[in-house]
Amino acid sequence: MKCRKAEISDALGITKVHVDTWRSAYKDIISDDFLQSLVYKGRESRWKERLENQEEKHFFYVVEDELRNIIGFTVGGLEQFEPNIEDPITSKYNGELLAIYVLGEYQRKGIGAQLVQKVVNHLLEHGINSMLVWVLKESKYRAFYEKLRGKYLTENYKEIGGDKYIVVSYGWDNIKEIATN
Ligand SMILES: CC(C)(COP(=O)(O)OP(=O)(O)OC[C@H]1O[C@@H](n2cnc3c(N)ncnc32)[C@H](O)[C@@H]1OP(=O)(O)O)[C@@H](O)C(=O)NCCC(=O)NCCS
Repeated sequence: MKCRKAEISDALGITKVHVDTWRSAYKDIISDDFLQSLVYKGRESRWKERLENQEEKHFFYVVEDELRNIIGFTVGGLEQFEPNIEDPITSKYNGELLAIYVLGEYQRKGIGAQLVQKVVNHLLEHGINSMLVWVLKESKYRAFYEKLRGKYLTENYKEIGGDKYIVVSYGWDNIKEIATN
């Protein structure tokens, strides 16, 4: 397994991991209609666009297996995607973990933790020492951030497929504390 920076040619692999992981991870939380509406078609070009414009603010890492299939990816931000500057609790965090997905059959093998390290190191290299993440309140995967010593911050709402879901945020005041190299 190899963890590396994403390239434009990874768009389809990322799309597959994104769609497949959403479908399996959120089947008890997000409406079935919405999950069934998620298809590769159309999404690949959007990921391609994002990867092409891999500007300074967003960065992407992937994990591939021995056959070079993408099995996980992450997106980090050098600033918050939708900062609420009026919220004194979340607004003080500079970097954001925008997305992190590992295919079901590869979960609990340390890949997610490895991807977080890539984000943390990238942020630190850019002089950013704090990080925030948003996650569905009902998701069992919150345990991943709790294990990483993320501090529970606040809750908010997010609209997904026309329905409103509660999301919660976790923050790290000093990501150097969780950097392992
Ligand atoms: C969350 C996710 C990225 C974690 O990746 P991963 O490779 O499975 O995580 P790791 O193996 O590095 O887990 C590290 C630790 O986090 C905790 N953890 C991870 N997943 C967990 C789960 N489902 N339940 C409880 N604890 C969990 C464990 O303590 C684990 O260590 P352990 O396996 O030795 O007990 C992955 O499970 C995933 O893609 N989930 C679905 C999508 C998702 O919810 N992404 C986050 C969106 S905000």
